[in-house]
Amino acid sequence: VTVPAVGRRHAAPLVRSLRGAGLRVHRFTVPDGDATKNLRQVKRLYDGFLEKGLDRSSAVVALGGGMVGDLAGFAAASFLRGIAFVQVPTTLLAMVDASVGGKVGVNLAQGKNLVGAFYQPQLVLCDLDTLKTLPNRELRAGLAEVIKYGVILDEEFFGYLEEHVEDLNQRDPEVLADVVARCCQLKASVVEQDERETTGLRAVLNYGHTFCHAIESVSGYDRLLHGEAVALGMVLAARYSARHGDLSLTDAERLTRAVDAAGLPSEIAALQLP
Ligand code: GLY
Repeated sequence: VTVPAVGRRHAAPLVRSLRGAGLRVHRFTVPDGDATKNLRQVKRLYDGFLEKGLDRSSAVVALGGGMVGDLAGFAAASFLRGIAFVQVPTTLLAMVDASVGGKVGVNLAQGKNLVGAFYQPQLVLCDLDTLKTLPNRELRAGLAEVIKYGVILDEEFFGYLEEHVEDLNQRDPEVLADVVARCCQLKASVVEQDERETTGLRAVLNYGHTFCHAIESVSGYDRLLHGEAVALGMVLAARYSARHGDLSLTDAERLTRAVDAAGLPSEIAALQLP
């Protein structure tokens, strides 16, 4: 399951490789954009799966960003009560966050991600070559979630990011590989301890997301990429904490500098929201 632009760039080698392993492969393309993450598209996938004769031995491979992973993952979780699922994320954000941890689902008219499941993929395959064609803005949006891991779980990693932000902006393959691997380790360790967000631990991954969701809701979801809203949300949360005496102003400013250095928005005023 993929979206048109990602399919054009990356589907052929994946399909070749799966066919080379003796598997039958069918390609399902869904429209791009978060508005696609809905029950109508899930139903279209079910119809396609049935038409092509998928059964309980089949697997769904999500090739793309977070939206594709959420949508295809939810279809995999529910089709025939659940068939195998593989994530092949092609954006930095999906590699470091969305593809790991098993959250899949769709939006309803009433709100985002209101229907879904915790459904772990059998495999998450991050091929860093796919990042070579990722637009700059999308790369930067992924960096917001990367910075988030440094803030919530790993100060040393945060220092590494401060030191290597230019390498990341230039897509240095070794730095990118280190960063993706570290983020996946950090996320996996949280999810292993609190898969279903029942103890409050996994909620730490939502750092910055309260302000982020408010900003996305006010700005109509199409103005900012999710990572951009996360960046702003983290800065606002840090300033809020600093104002309430729970975080030093120095740390809040350090985060703001990291967000600025990654080319992400840190000032809500600059957005001129309605
Ligand atoms: N993106 C937050 C989580 O997976 O829990």
